[in-house]
Amino acid sequence: MKILSLETSCDETAVAVISIENNTINVLAETVSSQIDIHTQYGGVVPEVAAREHVLSVLPTLKKTLIDANLLNNNIPDIDAIAVTSGPGLVTSLLVGVETARALSYAWQIPLVSLNHIEGHVAGAFINIDLSTVKFPLIALTVSGGHTMIILMTEFGRFEIIGETRDDAAGEAFDKAAKMMNVGYPGGPIISQLAEKAKPSKIKLPRPMIHSTDFDFSFSGLKTALLYELKKDNDWQNKIPEYCFEFQQAIVDVLVSKAIKAAKKYDARTIVLAGGVAANKTLRQSLNNTIIDKLPQTNFLMPELKYTTDNAAMIGAAAYFHAKQKAFTDWQKLKTDSNLKLV
Ligand code: KG4
Ligand code: ZN
Repeated sequence: MKILSLETSCDETAVAVISIENNTINVLAETVSSQIDIHTQYGGVVPEVAAREHVLSVLPTLKKTLIDANLLNNNIPDIDAIAVTSGPGLVTSLLVGVETARALSYAWQIPLVSLNHIEGHVAGAFINIDLSTVKFPLIALTVSGGHTMIILMTEFGRFEIIGETRDDAAGEAFDKAAKMMNVGYPGGPIISQLAEKAKPSKIKLPRPMIHSTDFDFSFSGLKTALLYELKKDNDWQNKIPEYCFEFQQAIVDVLVSKAIKAAKKYDARTIVLAGGVAANKTLRQSLNNTIIDKLPQTNFLMPELKYTTDNAAMIGAAAYFHAKQKAFTDWQKLKTDSNLKLV
């Protein structure tokens, strides 16, 4: 089976072609056209600007990917399904991918799969591995700029949200903290790099909700705590790496603690770390070490780095489980939903 997938939910125009052989999802070609340089000027994603950029880049990105996959000739491409992110995300950005996918499906008479972006992030961990080795129940810690969730999966395509943030997402907290310290955008990778230069310090920030009995998160108080510490400290500009270190550590401690607690409660046989914040080295290492220490029988799956932040291969990977069951969406009924729920 071959799937062409499109992802335009935020600020990356991404297209991929995946193929499934021997129970393994392989990526035949993929392109991610990033708008980060444009949005950096504004310190965040400007929805109107993002949508216009998607309009400009969607067809060149599609064409390049089809050429790379050897699928562009005078015939209809040899693909079995077209997958597209229909939500959640910025509605004007989503529309560009959705309308492109709708037109292709109609013109080529190829069935459509409408995909949830979060489901895509989790599926990023299933690329390039033998799918029969994935054991359930599975706990997916999904951490991005828009979402922070703990998801329970009992099989591919079956989800239950068991915890989520009550306010800011973890990636959003990184981005806002970076803005506060004026170190650039996007905040996550910048804070993580600065943290590597930190010297030992007495700076202490809270670990919100780390001891709560549920699996929810809250990161807006942490951001405010950082703001108060910076205001109190006349010399904070000379201690930016130390503030970054403690801020990152606070987020990592809470995420790891809740993921482990959830895995214990649900007897998880696999833990997946997914979403843009899964690119964070400290988070990857800390979760890995804690699993080895506390849950040595549990497998740990992380996407390759390029499949942590937004990309289209992960959307194609998630679509495979729908296409396999012929769960297609009529091209006339395909809709964007900026608040699309996972379940
Ligand atoms: O999944 P993603 O590409 O887009 C959304 O669906 O939101 O995630 C983007 C988020 C941003 O908030 C960015 O700061 C964060 O992921 N991020 C990181 C790192 N790389 C990206 N956060 C922490 N450490 C990183 N290395
Ligand atoms: Zn994302």
